[in-house]
Amino acid sequence: MNTLEVNIKSRAKQYPIYIDNADFSVLRRKIIQECGDKNYIVVFNQKVYKLYSKEFDFPKDRIFILKDGEKEKNYKNYLKILDFALSKKLKREDYIIAIGGGVVGDIAGFAASTYMRGINFIQVPTTLLAMTDSSVGGKVAINTNYGKNLVGAFYQPKVVFINTNFLKTLDVNQYKSGLGEVIKYGFIEKSCDEDSEFDLLNFLNENCEKILNKDSYTMERLISACVQLKIKVVENDEKESGLRKILNYGHTYAHAVEKLTNYRKYTHGECVIEGIKFALNLAVKKNLIDKEYQFLCSDIIQKYEYKPLKAFVSSKYIPIMTTDKKATGDCINFILPVQYAQVGEYKFTVPELFELVSDNK
Ligand code: NAD
Ligand code: GLY
Repeated sequence: MNTLEVNIKSRAKQYPIYIDNADFSVLRRKIIQECGDKNYIVVFNQKVYKLYSKEFDFPKDRIFILKDGEKEKNYKNYLKILDFALSKKLKREDYIIAIGGGVVGDIAGFAASTYMRGINFIQVPTTLLAMTDSSVGGKVAINTNYGKNLVGAFYQPKVVFINTNFLKTLDVNQYKSGLGEVIKYGFIEKSCDEDSEFDLLNFLNENCEKILNKDSYTMERLISACVQLKIKVVENDEKESGLRKILNYGHTYAHAVEKLTNYRKYTHGECVIEGIKFALNLAVKKNLIDKEYQFLCSDIIQKYEYKPLKAFVSSKYIPIMTTDKKATGDCINFILPVQYAQVGEYKFTVPELFELVSDNK
């Protein structure tokens, strides 16, 4: 078992992240132990509940089941979770436990952050994306008609339990969606932690088959490496005023593609991989990296067998990029590669970007 510690010094906030592949009965016991004699509710993703209700046989009257899908991360369900907690007379020292992917973690976490101004919150991520990204770092949110994740908070959990056995039932699309974010960490490793000696890109390169086959030991090491990088970033910049922006590597283009395809055609991770390819091209054109590094990165991506997505013309995606949450003034912000496993932030005006990508059409 790996035990990692998140330590947000500015708020004297500390919490552990446990990563293992123990039997689910052990995990259930640990969750109950964590709550001690306190009251709790469990917010479950519906599919996960169907798959694992035997292993996690919490009292039925404490279970809130959230239907499957991104659209369930909405105001209505957020209020329903709060009402459910109120009906169970939860107090601030009690617990909300989220068991599911990023959707459940985000909405239950946001409910926890506002319930009596903040109740204890436990994350039990069940997708690769949630294990390596959304359960770590305290971003919690719901979607609105105006856009995704527009209402939310920074609210750190009390503890995160990552159990790689959940990955066994994850379908290949969702698994590869999570892998998209994992591969992203490889390209930003040195910017997250300049002292990191893991060499995630090399690990991704050498262990492709084991990773695609969800080899348990390899996945534990991989998830652990990604979580350590995310911890470094969040400890430095909890509220995304600087360093945390590097986690958006590949995301400016990815978000545009997701919007253009109504969040239906492709998974988030697939779009991030496409966004990384876009960023690599842009970086070559700006002379930030040479073609050799671009080939090395493209080679690693290719090993993971991502299909190329539909290509959009710049007149379609650039206007969407200007509405990105991370756009500032007249500029579109990109995180771009600068050298091996390192990235930096670059701003482009709209005409400048049209000019640079013109031959991509
Ligand atoms: P998700 O929660 O919708 O889960 C994806 C699918 O996997 C669902 O159909 C779910 O039923 C299924 N699933 C979950 N666990 C399973 C398991 N063990 N076996 C079989 N099926 C399983 O999506 P996600 O990709 O986990 O998360 C995406 C969400 O996370 C988005 O809402 C995104 O905005 C959010 N997010 C948040 C952060 C953050 O920092 N808070 C970071 C990244 C993404
Ligand atoms: N997933 C991006 C972040 O946590 O900041």
